[in-house]
Amino acid sequence: MSATIIDGYSIAASVRSRVAEGVSRLTGKGVHPCLAVVLVGDNPASVSYVSGKERALREVGMKDRTIRLPADTGEKELLELVDSLNHDPDVHGILVQLPLPKHINEQAVIMAIDPSKDVDGFHPVNLGNMLIERECFLPCTPHGVLVLLRETGITTAGAHAVIVGRSNIVGKPLSVLLARRDCNATVTVCHTKTRDLAAITRQADILIAAVGSPRMISADMIKPGAAVIDVGVNRVADDTAKNGYRLVGDVDFAPACEVASAITPVPRGVGPMTIAMLMENTLEAALRTLR
Ligand code: GUN
Repeated sequence: MSATIIDGYSIAASVRSRVAEGVSRLTGKGVHPCLAVVLVGDNPASVSYVSGKERALREVGMKDRTIRLPADTGEKELLELVDSLNHDPDVHGILVQLPLPKHINEQAVIMAIDPSKDVDGFHPVNLGNMLIERECFLPCTPHGVLVLLRETGITTAGAHAVIVGRSNIVGKPLSVLLARRDCNATVTVCHTKTRDLAAITRQADILIAAVGSPRMISADMIKPGAAVIDVGVNRVADDTAKNGYRLVGDVDFAPACEVASAITPVPRGVGPMTIAMLMENTLEAALRTLR
């Protein structure tokens, strides 16, 4: 058996094109959607994510307010910047790229963002509303995973979804979303202290890997016919590559393709969906200013 490769790149492109139409309509009404992205320091993965966001903003026709700050920027300075963006009527969405340098309290920065501009969906107000199924900004990667499943025709209702990883950004929110009444999956969350991980992953109808460990999910951990969603983006050294590295997921892709019924590749799987959902949230934040 060879799995269907889930084309996140093209599903994300269709989300962006729908967002672009919304941006054009809204701009016609005098509101030009604008996202402020704040990057502190020069973590290579973060630098690359931020350029991806800038490309997407240009493509959908939104205003790009990217602010690059040196790695030694103080927490107070960053909190003041967030406060000024909160009060800037031309800015509809605010995203502070994570991780932040160690001397800055990440949670304090997230809490400082006005929830109505928190297009990452990381503020406790948005996370709480997500939990109780009220309208809110959904975190972009988990939301992107749901859209991939839906667009690929993978049924979540009644399915056993096993998530490996319990981060605040992916594993935890995804566990909540999949268990909500609009997905109706039965959810198991695995983590570093899980006993006999493989015995649990082998029960998954939908297996989601979000650990950040290259190729740790081997083919024998996958139930034949399962759908596999690989959220990992890991850089591994590769002398034959132009920049000396290449990207691999948390799943050992080629052998997994022989077992799964459908699988996301890395790159061009979940990654582009994260940015597409960010564009959607920013459009929604701008639309709300008219309500
Ligand atoms: N770092 C990795 N993923 C994300 C994300 O979705 N949002 C932010 N702000 N930082 C990240």
